[in-house]
Amino acid sequence: MSIEKIFITGSGLMGGGIAQVCAQSGFRVILNDVRPEALLEAKKNISWSVGKLVEKGSVKESREEIMTRIATTTEIEAAASADLVIEAVFENLELKRDVFRRLDKAAGPGAILASNTSAISISELAGVTGRPENVLGLHFFSPVPMMGTAEVIRGMLTSEETFSRGVDFVRRLGKDPILVHRDIPAFVINRINFRANIEAMRLVEQGVATVEDIDKGLRLAGGRKMGPFETGDMVGLDVTHGALMAIYEETRDASFYPPAILRRKVQMGQLGRKTGRGWYEYNPDGTIKK
Ligand SMILES: NC(=O)c1ccc[n+]([C@@H]2O[C@H](COP(=O)([O-])OP(=O)(O)OC[C@H]3O[C@@H](n4cnc5c(N)ncnc54)[C@H](O)[C@@H]3O)[C@@H](O)[C@H]2O)c1
Repeated sequence: MSIEKIFITGSGLMGGGIAQVCAQSGFRVILNDVRPEALLEAKKNISWSVGKLVEKGSVKESREEIMTRIATTTEIEAAASADLVIEAVFENLELKRDVFRRLDKAAGPGAILASNTSAISISELAGVTGRPENVLGLHFFSPVPMMGTAEVIRGMLTSEETFSRGVDFVRRLGKDPILVHRDIPAFVINRINFRANIEAMRLVEQGVATVEDIDKGLRLAGGRKMGPFETGDMVGLDVTHGALMAIYEETRDASFYPPAILRRKVQMGQLGRKTGRGWYEYNPDGTIKK
């Protein structure tokens, strides 16, 4: 069965971005969230972003054509008509287990269930469903419309067919997939990046260098488009914290335990761009306060 209709649950930064690239690639999308206001916000953001890409000429269809492919709903039962379901709710194990149980009931028997989790075990999520062979990880990177790749992750019981359909789906989005053959915490790219990011946080904590200088250094000397703190503010400090805790819980490797500076910021609600303050402080127009 070919993948034509996608149901995405969780319409935040990632769910919205995934909905956008699916619609741009011709898929029909149903975007779901428990909060109606999140769905409104997501449609507004997607429409703005598609408009920019049309202006730049990187998207050929009109904004209207693309937006008509995206329907929104607060009802999880709407997953019944989808060939592929992508979960992008908060990074919380209990929540995701509950959502997977409900998606398993709601989705048609042949549908694939995917999680965009940053670090939670795909096998564990598959384990709460009656179709573990149809479950895999599809880990997109932020900002989804700009990033050229996504990780496709095998759970312990993911079938060859499900895995190759996942790989093919990522290609149909115009992205070049990274194949992850074992379901290890944080998968491949985050596993490597987290080590560097934790080191960067510790250097700030120890007063060795500032957030600004580390970001500048990695841009100018490390060949990155964005420094780790700029990226961290976009991703959300709570998301990074959740992912590090998930790796730590699974591996008991203390080097992955979130540094105190990150824990404190999360406790204070300094979560990055979405709260106006994280590693940097932001003006209402999104620019960094000097
Ligand atoms: N932020 C990133 O850069 C990034 C990158 C890769 C993967 N991820 C992963 O993607 C997932 C989503 O992250 P995000 O940054 O988009 O989060 P977010 O906070 O922007 O959005 C999460 C959305 O999920 C919704 N939600 C919560 N419970 C729900 C439920 N029961 N049913 C439906 N919707 C529900 C919330 O209302 C919210 O709109 C997480 O697992 C995260 O680890 C994030």
